[in-house]
Amino acid sequence: MHIDRCYCFQKTFAELKAVAEATGAASVEALQAEAVFGHNCQLCHPYVRRMLRTGDTVFDTIVEAADEPPTPQPARTPSD
Ligand code: FES
Repeated sequence: MHIDRCYCFQKTFAELKAVAEATGAASVEALQAEAVFGHNCQLCHPYVRRMLRTGDTVFDTIVEAADEPPTPQPARTPSD
């Protein structure tokens, strides 16, 4: 098994990592504002979260949402 991209949009995790490093995007949502991926089946989302956390761009095991849950977003304050 060799998982290295968002298959629906043919965007490699290496490409997405470069975008994250260039823009400072630190979540799937922030990265989606900078690159087109992950808008269909979303099976790539936990892989992208792991990539953002570890820097890995190629995966040999299945990573599911429960394995790599979204990072809790900071609570919004009334001044936001
Ligand atoms: S694999 Fe990324 S949206 Fe389907």
